[in-house]
Amino acid sequence: MLDQTPEPTIVPAAADESSQLSQFASFARVTEGWYWALRSRDLKRGQIRPLSFLGREIVVFRDADGVVRAMDAYCPHMGAHLAEGRVDGQGVRCFFHHWKLGATGEVTDIPCQTKPAKASNKVWPVAEQYGVIWIWTGKEASRPVPYIPEIEGRKVDARLGNQFEKGCHPNIVMVNAIDEQHFHSVHPLASSLADGLHFQITSHSKNSQVFDNDRPVPRNNLFNRLLGKLYAGALTYRMVYWNGSTGSVTVGPDFLHFHIIFALRPTARGTTEGQTILVTEQRKGLLGKFLNAVILRVTEVVGNYFAKGDTQVFQTIRWNFQTPIRADRPIIEFMRHLEEQKSVPWGAWDGSDRDMAISKHPHGRLS
Ligand code: FES
Ligand SMILES: [Fe+2]
Repeated sequence: MLDQTPEPTIVPAAADESSQLSQFASFARVTEGWYWALRSRDLKRGQIRPLSFLGREIVVFRDADGVVRAMDAYCPHMGAHLAEGRVDGQGVRCFFHHWKLGATGEVTDIPCQTKPAKASNKVWPVAEQYGVIWIWTGKEASRPVPYIPEIEGRKVDARLGNQFEKGCHPNIVMVNAIDEQHFHSVHPLASSLADGLHFQITSHSKNSQVFDNDRPVPRNNLFNRLLGKLYAGALTYRMVYWNGSTGSVTVGPDFLHFHIIFALRPTARGTTEGQTILVTEQRKGLLGKFLNAVILRVTEVVGNYFAKGDTQVFQTIRWNFQTPIRADRPIIEFMRHLEEQKSVPWGAWDGSDRDMAISKHPHGRLS
């Protein structure tokens, strides 16, 4: 049965000005939010690493107290890459002339003169969650790191899955998880659109959107009929999006839900770099620890299944959504939600540097 939603209208393409760009699948405008940067275990105390982050060159380091910090990569003296230098207290000392930049990015010490010059690098808010370092693409973080609403506020255990690269923008990869048509064309879940997934769409917060399946397991084969016995109501399939680039999927029978976070970020190459994170609620005691290790391993298998199947299409797709139909309703809603999000040319929150590599990239605007 088709829903009664009116025929969707597609978001109009905007003029090719960064201030007017359509936000969906745009490499030039970054939706403000947290984006995954590195695995925590890949950055030891006192270590500094270069990172090309959404097209901007930055350094990420773990200071003497174990706190992770991120700042622009090039020294404000002469442009040496700070990853050539070393961590010094809460800041970084440049390799070239040994200037020190403190935790706020200000130059705090110039060895050959008593008064430091007035110069600084931008620093970026950092958080660590699930064994992952996250960086906020604005001046001050105004939201928590993406979480699973179902277990909001509870302690969690996490396991890191694989890292991957896809040949298109993160928004397009995310669309896949709410593409009702493809659940029967690509995945063997249903035999037709009519008995496949159908999403209720709500806002969890101003910046996150929830897609919740409201249909039972289709009874199209023996496996699905047996599977259906594990659900009192609808088949659990819930997708929660955070700034259009990080999504969590919740699946599983009523007695055990699996949570998989797909953390994605755009690259200057016009691709997506992703990190899979498996999450479960913390369980007490030794048995709880053991149980969680098993649950997280099973979650990884489930996550790998999700990531498989559509892989090839993301390497070759040229997003051009010319002919939306009623079954594309969740995708249209997702695009609308993204258009409402705050976005800035990455790094330009104070208007000082609008010429980042990413906005000049040939794939600077894809839709
Ligand atoms: S270039 Fe960094 S101190 Fe001179
Ligand atoms: Fe898929």
